[in-house]
Amino acid sequence: MTAVKTARGRVGTPYIRVDGRDKVTGAARYAGDFSFPELAHGALALSTVARGRIRSVQAAAVAAMPGVLAVLHHGNAPRVEKNYSDVLSVPPDPTVALFQHDRVPHVGWPVALVVATTAEQAREAVESLVIHYEQEPHDVAFSAEHPDAYAADTPLMPSGVARKGDLESALAASPVLVDELYTTAEEHHGMMEPHAATALWDGDRLEVVDSNQGSLWVAHGLAMLFSMDPAKVHVRSEHVGGGFGSKGLRAHQVAAVMATTVVRRPVRVALTRRQMFSLTGYRSPTAQRIRLGSDLEGRLLAVQHDALSMTSTEYEFVEPSSEVGWRMYDAGAHHTRNRVVRLDVPTPTWMRAPGMAPGSFALESALDELAEKCGVDPIVLRTRNLPAAGPLSGLPFSNHNLLACFAEGARRFGWPDRDPRPGLRREGHWVLGTGTAGAIYPAGVAPSTASATAEADGTFTIRITASDIGTGARTALTLVAADALEVAPEHVRVLIGDSDFGPAVIAGGSMGTRSWSWAVTMAARRLRKHLSRDGIIPPEGITARADTSAEVAALPPKERHSFGAQFAEVAVDTATGEVRVRRMLGIFAAGRIVNPLTARSQLVGGMTWGISMALHEEAVRDRATGGQIGPDLANYHVATHADVPDVEADWVDDTDPDDPVGIKGIGELGIVGAAAAIANAVWHATGVRHRNLPIRPDRVL
Ligand code: MOS
Repeated sequence: MTAVKTARGRVGTPYIRVDGRDKVTGAARYAGDFSFPELAHGALALSTVARGRIRSVQAAAVAAMPGVLAVLHHGNAPRVEKNYSDVLSVPPDPTVALFQHDRVPHVGWPVALVVATTAEQAREAVESLVIHYEQEPHDVAFSAEHPDAYAADTPLMPSGVARKGDLESALAASPVLVDELYTTAEEHHGMMEPHAATALWDGDRLEVVDSNQGSLWVAHGLAMLFSMDPAKVHVRSEHVGGGFGSKGLRAHQVAAVMATTVVRRPVRVALTRRQMFSLTGYRSPTAQRIRLGSDLEGRLLAVQHDALSMTSTEYEFVEPSSEVGWRMYDAGAHHTRNRVVRLDVPTPTWMRAPGMAPGSFALESALDELAEKCGVDPIVLRTRNLPAAGPLSGLPFSNHNLLACFAEGARRFGWPDRDPRPGLRREGHWVLGTGTAGAIYPAGVAPSTASATAEADGTFTIRITASDIGTGARTALTLVAADALEVAPEHVRVLIGDSDFGPAVIAGGSMGTRSWSWAVTMAARRLRKHLSRDGIIPPEGITARADTSAEVAALPPKERHSFGAQFAEVAVDTATGEVRVRRMLGIFAAGRIVNPLTARSQLVGGMTWGISMALHEEAVRDRATGGQIGPDLANYHVATHADVPDVEADWVDDTDPDDPVGIKGIGELGIVGAAAAIANAVWHATGVRHRNLPIRPDRVL
């Protein structure tokens, strides 16, 4: 071994992204950047009606247009197999079974693909394609009182409901009550890099160059759909310009595979920004009823968190907002429920902090209302209601550092100097206020495999089917591997995003870095043992492999969570109703932090999204057409630089006691509670509660 040894402890030290230079110089190639000989381009046609049947696709007219190679639709597309379980052990959203029938379940449903020699020819032809529909009445109106709402299964709540105690008696016996309805808007991921995939046949092997949160997820899905041996499907995803939950198996990868199978040359299908709004999932709007009953000091006697979201007629996806109530605070009577309504809309999906982002807005706003009614400081109120064990599971917490976050946050934010009375601080035509909220996100882990190779030149190569969706995962894994190998990170290269590297968890649920790090650490430690035994490294190197399945399965059952405390200061313009966030502080307990540089970015990004959720984001559906109004980044408002003045994220000492590196996961946590802290600050500024997001100027006035 010629590698330079360094002191231990790279994990926890700021480290510049290993791919940062490639990304800012344009050397990093994204899915749409790769060129192939004979590359053809596919453009999708999406339905313009919200419900009905395709009567005819006038393919002949566009087939004669310049460069057009094929027009695929339900009448001629290859058949696929849609009855399978994906790598998450759930049935796939049948939306990926492209062009299999003539039914249209929502506006923006994929109905045809035009393949042409150039992207421009494909686009022109698809815009000329005439499709006749037989329209049926549709319903896209989500409301808290929708008559078709039903309790929905979720993994944590198989009956849709989790409860203990007699809720109504406990509420009746409570001297202080909060009973309110909170709503959040339909929100979209809108990451910078739109979805794109190129598919080609290499003999009997299918190659797909993609942008995804799990190359094995996509490879397995394609193998199942096209009834192929999974070993014959190879998916790569080297760089990903954002994912947030939306980059799994989607229509475009399937379209690219169908097209390359038909035209026998490589085919790329890239979605347009507008197509992303109906084809790549989104966060359902929610309506959440919270009922809290407490004693006069704010000790909770009853908690009810009843959440409603919507899904498509094709697939049941539930935004599990009430699971915040399940975990956060205890009470003798505790009822949580997730309900869903099926509408003629695209299927929603995971979007950063699924359930927890909207759920924390409702619950943490209601806690603030309870604090006001009891005349108790909002932080003190929370300290009076911490669970000794999982409120509904009864399981012990692995550790519980919510209070440490509030203590550190309060000190740094200046909370002790706050006058709790609302509507007192003026600055010209602005009124000022501050607010706080708690944050929680499950610290999950899933089995993964990795390999570590000692190369003959003294460097090391890690291979793992991880995905760096912009989080800095590739860099974090480099530090973890360097620590486990006891070498400098400069001697370690981490290869990711390749389905040939074996099973590993997707980049999702804040589980990626933690789960992958476990496998990388095991493989690296094993390699060191080999090396101390073998000494000489042959030209092909020495490789050790690891699979964490047994270790993960042996974890004792516990409530494992990251926590946080969010603080916000806002100014509200009394003339225009505009809300400006002046500063935000988030203090988190999120396990051992691998790379403070990218961790801070992750958390600040989540908090920024919280500002956006609180004040800007709202996808609006037109009831008449069933489509979304202005599905693009001009009409769908997000927080911009000018809306995000001073956001600071930091953390307290925390570790996961059962993880070899102590990691918990930080991906989702930053957005949780952020919107509630802002809404609570708006109340403190104005004396008016805002229970419907976003807090638009017309709602403030
Ligand atoms: Mo995250 S919503 O699991 O990508």
